[in-house]
Amino acid sequence: MAMRKSMIDIAWEDFARLSLEEKVPYLRQADGLPYHTLFAQQFDTPLLERLGALANSIRAVAKTRAGMDFLRHLICHKRAMLYFSQPSSRTFLSFASACQILGMPIGEVRDTATSSEYKGESREDSVRTFSSYFDLIVMRSPEKGLAEHMAWVLSNSERPIPLINAGSGKDQHPTQALLDIYTLQRSFERLGGLRERTIVMVGDLARGRTVRSLACLLAGFDNIRQIFVAPPALQIGEDVQQTLRQRGVTFELSGDLRAALPLADAVYMTRIQDEWDQVKGESAGIDTARFKFGLEELALLRSHAIVMHPLPRRDEIDPAVDRDPRAMYWRQMRNGMWIRSALIAMTFGCEKRILDYHRANM
Ligand code: NCD
Repeated sequence: MAMRKSMIDIAWEDFARLSLEEKVPYLRQADGLPYHTLFAQQFDTPLLERLGALANSIRAVAKTRAGMDFLRHLICHKRAMLYFSQPSSRTFLSFASACQILGMPIGEVRDTATSSEYKGESREDSVRTFSSYFDLIVMRSPEKGLAEHMAWVLSNSERPIPLINAGSGKDQHPTQALLDIYTLQRSFERLGGLRERTIVMVGDLARGRTVRSLACLLAGFDNIRQIFVAPPALQIGEDVQQTLRQRGVTFELSGDLRAALPLADAVYMTRIQDEWDQVKGESAGIDTARFKFGLEELALLRSHAIVMHPLPRRDEIDPAVDRDPRAMYWRQMRNGMWIRSALIAMTFGCEKRILDYHRANM
């Protein structure tokens, strides 16, 4: 049984100082499953496999009306708050859909100008307010570490409820990494699984939180080689490289997309994250022309390889690529709804009931 610690027993300043590994035991339920979901590194490979299996069951059960009816009653006695103080389409809608699949009514704040934060209420008080009405908070914020702090605040309130990080700053986007891993698992299911694969990540790797989270999760799978292709100014952070080194992962940094493509089992494209520019026009001064994926790049890709993108895209993937069966990004997006359903179901202890229903009825 995985070790568990309680956030009640530790001051915020002491918790904040811990390494990610040291924080993990504080995020678990008594059965070892996730309570708060804050960062990708809290999911080890067996848990990722288990989550993927649950997502597969949910999507199979959801195919029938009776199955949808079963799912809709699972968590209908709990409510979820979607608190998104940063733009989002897919993450918001897929979480909203996941809650609906499981029967959870939702509330939302997407613009703090419409909440009491506008009147000067602290975020601690806002979040504490949500916990009076809701049983789960899904939170996206431009601020690094805020989700962690709010999880600690909630755990130390009279009404503790779980929090799921739906993207925090440039740092972490754990549920995107979950859906990316799920997409890779499904794509290579009939080819021996997610092992001994080469994953090529392209674009703004310095500020793309999805890549940062995914790179760390991939480190747990056997013999995954990671190739980071970016202009020097946008290369993957030293902190991620250090994590990969510590875990003995084979990785390289490259500036040559065309050289990497024939090696790839999956190409993970990302957009330039210019909303994080420190000075105006900073990103516009970087030459990104060689980091785009069009029909010529597609021709360099092996027949079984897939093209992924967390979306939204700009011009880094030519829409002409969309029609190719290797273009995985739209299916990847829908996978987000299933894996988020699985995560919420697991958080609320419904895993066994779903697997049992699936086994008995399918
Ligand atoms: C990503 C994000 O918000 O980090 N979007 C998403 O959640 N699918 C990627 C991005 O905005 O580029």
